[in-house]
Amino acid sequence: MKELQERIKKDGIAVNEDILKVDSFINHQVDPVLMQHIGEAFAEHFKDQGITKVATIESSGIAPALMTAMCMGLPMIILKKQPSKILNDNLFQTEVTSFTKGTSYELTLSSKFVSEKDHVLIIDDFLANGEAATGAIRLIRKAHATIAGVGVLIEKAFQPGHEKLVSQGFDVYPLARISHMAKDEIEFLED
Ligand code: G4P
Ligand code: NA
Ligand code: NA
Repeated sequence: MKELQERIKKDGIAVNEDILKVDSFINHQVDPVLMQHIGEAFAEHFKDQGITKVATIESSGIAPALMTAMCMGLPMIILKKQPSKILNDNLFQTEVTSFTKGTSYELTLSSKFVSEKDHVLIIDDFLANGEAATGAIRLIRKAHATIAGVGVLIEKAFQPGHEKLVSQGFDVYPLARISHMAKDEIEFLED
């Protein structure tokens, strides 16, 4: 997606060879018009597949997932990183470890919102090692639903997430693919 790539070139900050800061338009301050166009791009790619719900992991995936769900006319599900104390029955849970952040959390989904009738599209902001996406897939499968694919805004193609998911047969659709970064330097894989 040209628009996202251009925006990353303009406003993204390569902190080092691993970390891209996008907090002025994706992660902290959010550009709603960009998010709408992102939603349209995912809706176009994943149309006519019988998708019933759009799922994301809190928190940075929520804005693009909501726009995607809006464009597709579907509900959005937020996979929680912490079990709610007041909704603690009938929860599916799985542990996810983030290499980038060096943390672990229990990804949580209420059995009320996903069932064997669902075909779920997963949306997230970054694809790096693929741990978050893999955890989301595990969790949705615990609810006996099927996975339509994984849409990500930014793929760090020099990390193994994309390959991990594709080798398991998933349709992975990144809107911008970064092949290489260094301080103040970002290179893209052209599509
Ligand atoms: P993985 O899921 O692909 O394995 O990635 P990893 O665990 O390494 O990343 C975990 C968290 O770090 C995710 O956010 C992800 O969006 C974020 N992340 C990964 N690489 C980058 C990067 O280059 N720049 C930025 N800004 N974030 C990155 P999270 O913990 O789920 O938090 P949230 O931001 O969604 O709340
Ligand atoms: Na995220
Ligand atoms: Na993030």
